[in-house]
Amino acid sequence: MVQVRLTGVSKKYGDVPAVEKLDLLVRDREFLTILGPSGGGKSTTLRLIAGLETPDEGDIHIDDLRINELPPRDRNMTMVFQNYALFPHMTAEANIAFPLVVKHTPKEEVEKRVKEVSSLLKISHLLKRKPKEMSGGEQQRVALGRAIVKKPNVFLMDEPLSNLDAALRTEMRMELKRLQKQLQTTLIYVTHDQTEALSMADRIAVIKDGKLLQIGSPEEIYNQPADAWIASFIGNPPMNLISCTLARNNDRTTLHAAEDCVLEIPKSLISKLTDLEIGAKLKLGVRPEDIEIGSKGATLFCEAEIYLLESTGDSTVIDFKMGDSIVKLKTKAGYKAKIGERAQLVFTGSKMLLFDAETGRAL
Ligand SMILES: Nc1ncnc2c1ncn2[C@@H]1O[C@H](COP(=O)(O)OP(=O)(O)OP(=O)(O)O)[C@@H](O)[C@H]1O
Ligand SMILES: [Mg+2]
Repeated sequence: MVQVRLTGVSKKYGDVPAVEKLDLLVRDREFLTILGPSGGGKSTTLRLIAGLETPDEGDIHIDDLRINELPPRDRNMTMVFQNYALFPHMTAEANIAFPLVVKHTPKEEVEKRVKEVSSLLKISHLLKRKPKEMSGGEQQRVALGRAIVKKPNVFLMDEPLSNLDAALRTEMRMELKRLQKQLQTTLIYVTHDQTEALSMADRIAVIKDGKLLQIGSPEEIYNQPADAWIASFIGNPPMNLISCTLARNNDRTTLHAAEDCVLEIPKSLISKLTDLEIGAKLKLGVRPEDIEIGSKGATLFCEAEIYLLESTGDSTVIDFKMGDSIVKLKTKAGYKAKIGERAQLVFTGSKMLLFDAETGRAL
């Protein structure tokens, strides 16, 4: 069993806090993605786990062993970076074998392991080539081969696919996921790309400003973001966050989103509002795919002006102007409408979320 646990871990560079009081449990054989914006503390977290940095505060455990002071070479982890450096003068075979050769592993064992790893990564035909004779994706697979040949307890990967083109990146994502399931090794994968995180991870840990904002399955992070920032970071396009005020109209509690947009509160959200006063500032979260163009009959509708139409190939994204904000709606490809026209927006109530406008926390 290999689980990695961080408790109250902090790390500063001079006065700059890179990681602050971080609690994180990576489960045995889990594919955990650390997702967050640039400068959020993702690489620092990974380097702390690898032992390349020492925490100022807090503890790091592998299973029951506290490893704060354990040197990196004794942790049996391998790290793959964005700029994977293969030895240019060595063949793919020699590159993969390198970590075993330096440990004086017997020759037969080295040959056997290199063969296994190359067949797993589908690079057996490349073994005699040097890095400059291979494509970026092939070199990347050789670098992965070198990382897994040691049979580490934990894989640590820091944006390992960001140098590849879009098609290769998509292919490698799936290969990595398959490989991790096959090898049954705990894998911690750092990325700032939400699509990558959603498509690969068993669980996603969202880290921003050195703090853990939320940890959960891709579905939880997508459907129940704990925070308005996460809501606006995930999804393509991300969730709309519409500023609104809690109001009362003829004994009914409503959300006042703009001059001509007063929304009835969906039943699913009423219970969350009991402690709030009339006039409270909120953000209404609704995904572009949960808004439709409809008619006034619906309870949750609102009129707005078409501001822009964007075609993404497989869908159309329509931007509406609502007060000062732009609200995006995603609909089928080829949708025809004129800029400047007014239309009725219908919200699919069951999927709406509310956030406190000040703290950003989900209600
Ligand atoms: N060696 C260092 N010296 C000083 N400050 C550092 C050092 N490494 C990181 N930092 C700072 O710590 C914070 C977290 O950096 P980190 O590299 O962990 O972010 P990140 O989430 O990996 O970002 P990116 O997505 O850009 O790689 C940043 O404010 C960064 O400027
Ligand atoms: Mg980084």
